[in-house]
Amino acid sequence: MAPDASGIPTYTTPDEVSGDYREMLIRLLTRQLWAETATAEVFGRSISAAPSWREKYMAAEFAFEEAQHSQMLVDVLDDLGEDSQAIVDSRPDAAMFWHLDLTNWIHIAVFNFTVDRGGSQQIIEYQKSSYRPWAEKMDVVLADEEEHYDNGVENLRQFSKNPDQFAEFQSVFNELLPNAVKRCFGRPEGADNEFCLAHGLKRVSTEGVINRYLEEMSEFMAETGLKFPSFDEFDKLNAQLLPSTRDIIAKLQ
Ligand SMILES: [Fe+2]
Ligand SMILES: [Fe+2]
Repeated sequence: MAPDASGIPTYTTPDEVSGDYREMLIRLLTRQLWAETATAEVFGRSISAAPSWREKYMAAEFAFEEAQHSQMLVDVLDDLGEDSQAIVDSRPDAAMFWHLDLTNWIHIAVFNFTVDRGGSQQIIEYQKSSYRPWAEKMDVVLADEEEHYDNGVENLRQFSKNPDQFAEFQSVFNELLPNAVKRCFGRPEGADNEFCLAHGLKRVSTEGVINRYLEEMSEFMAETGLKFPSFDEFDKLNAQLLPSTRDIIAKLQ
C-alpha cells in the first residue's frame, strides 16, 4: 500500500483490500463485468444482423475483444476470491440489459456509437484506479475501445447519408441514450460518488465523466445532424441529470 501523487493509498495485491473499500471495488468490478459480458454477447449476436461481410467480420472481432475484456475482469475478481461465474449469472439478459433488439442492425449501430463508448468513458477512470491489479489491465481495453468507437462514428456517418435510415437511427438513439447514461454511469450524486473519489476508485466525479462522454459525442452529432433526445425521454427512465449535463444536452436538441 503506497500513496499516489494526491496522497490517496493505492493497493497492489488482493490481500491488501478490506472493508468498505473492498465492497465498493467488487461493486465496480461487477458493473464492468456485466457491461463487458453483455457487450460481448451483443457483438456476437450482431454477426447475424450485420448487412455486409466487412461488418460481420468486425462484429466477430469486437465480440472476441469484449470477451477478452470480460476475462480480464474475471481474473481480477477470481484473484479477490469472488465467484465470477455467479456474478455473470446474476446479470440480466444482454438484450434487456442494454434495451436492444439484437436482430436489428440499426440498434447495433446505435449501440456501437452510444452504449459501448459510455463503458469506455468509465474505463478511462478505472485505468487510474487505486486498485492497481485492475488499473493495469485497462490499457489494452482502452486501445480496443478506441477502435470500437471509430467504427461507431463511421456507422453514424454512413446512416446520416440516407434520410429514412437516419430518422430510424435518431429514434433508436432517443431510446438508447437515456438507458446508457443510467446503466453506464449510475447516479451522478450521492455517497457512492464521494467514496470513490476519496479512495481513488475514480479520479473524476460521475457528473464530470457523463459530461465528457456527451461533449465528445456532441462533436460527431453536430457533424451529422443527430440530436439529443428530449428531457422527457430521460425522465421516463428516471435518468438523473445535473444542471451542467442538461446544458450540454440542451445545446443539441
Ligand atoms: Fe469492452
Ligand atoms: Fe467495446
